[in-house]
Amino acid sequence: MTAASTAATHLFIITGTSRGLGAALAQALLKPGHRLICVARNRNPELEQAAAASGVKVAWHLQDLSQAGPAAAWLGSVLDAVDEAPASATLILNAGMIEPIGPVAALQEATLVPHLLTNLATPMTMTAAFLARTERFGCPRKVLAISSGAARRPVEGWAAYCAGKAGLDMFVRSVNAEYAQAPAERGVRAVALAPGVVDTSMQATIRGADFAQVQRFRDLKDNDQLASAEDTARRIAAYLDRPDFGSTELDDIRNT
Ligand SMILES: NC(=O)c1ccc[n+]([C@@H]2O[C@H](COP(=O)([O-])OP(=O)(O)OC[C@H]3O[C@@H](n4cnc5c(N)ncnc54)[C@H](OP(=O)(O)O)[C@@H]3O)[C@@H](O)[C@H]2O)c1
Repeated sequence: MTAASTAATHLFIITGTSRGLGAALAQALLKPGHRLICVARNRNPELEQAAAASGVKVAWHLQDLSQAGPAAAWLGSVLDAVDEAPASATLILNAGMIEPIGPVAALQEATLVPHLLTNLATPMTMTAAFLARTERFGCPRKVLAISSGAARRPVEGWAAYCAGKAGLDMFVRSVNAEYAQAPAERGVRAVALAPGVVDTSMQATIRGADFAQVQRFRDLKDNDQLASAEDTARRIAAYLDRPDFGSTELDDIRNT
């Protein structure tokens, strides 16, 4: 066995890898020495092919992340099955949804609750599972939550999304506060990172919706001002590598 084949790998768990930013993040992290655990409800055969060709070890899981309990149980069992302590472990909470879009007075439990489960409660329970089940590795740990500018300033018609992402921001701060004094082998650094306005199917949903600022998003697309998922993912991958990762717990990739 060569030295390279026995070296510990850097483990990444990425949610929402079937398309958009999550798929581009998985692609950007297909590097030697990495091991990826990817999850969404749908497959992405093109990405799976690229991963197979890269030689990087990737596990693809189909899981509905709108159910916070089963999502955490799934992650716990996947992490318990990791047989070799990684050099580092990173949880990327990317899966998310924008709908329901509409006035506050029209909010309904039937669409609001699945939204908050997907965008807030599941990221929280998955982080809990990640922290509990990776402690045995004693390796550096990171949590990267994909947040939004809408967490930090309200957008009319996006009350569910703004509230969920603002909750995610505060959750990240809470994790950092709780682990600030942790010894290195139990430590974790968490960041909530806004990715900018990225050309994905979520933006298509936004452009097709009815809310006060919709024209701004249509203009960004028409004027070719959206960031590409690939470029954004490359920048996020570089951000994860920064030695000062975690020093700005609420960040925006456009500031980097
Ligand atoms: N695009 C932007 O301009 C923008 C701006 C700010 C923040 N963000 C954030 O960036 C992240 C990625 O967004 P995107 O633009 O790439 O969106 P997208 O193209 O709609 O992709 C969303 C991803 O999340 C997964 N997902 C959604 N609900 C899920 C569920 N219940 N269970 C499992 N997976 C689920 C989807 O997979 P399946 O449907 O296959 O399950 C898909 O892979 C989100 O957190 C979003 O809020 C995006």
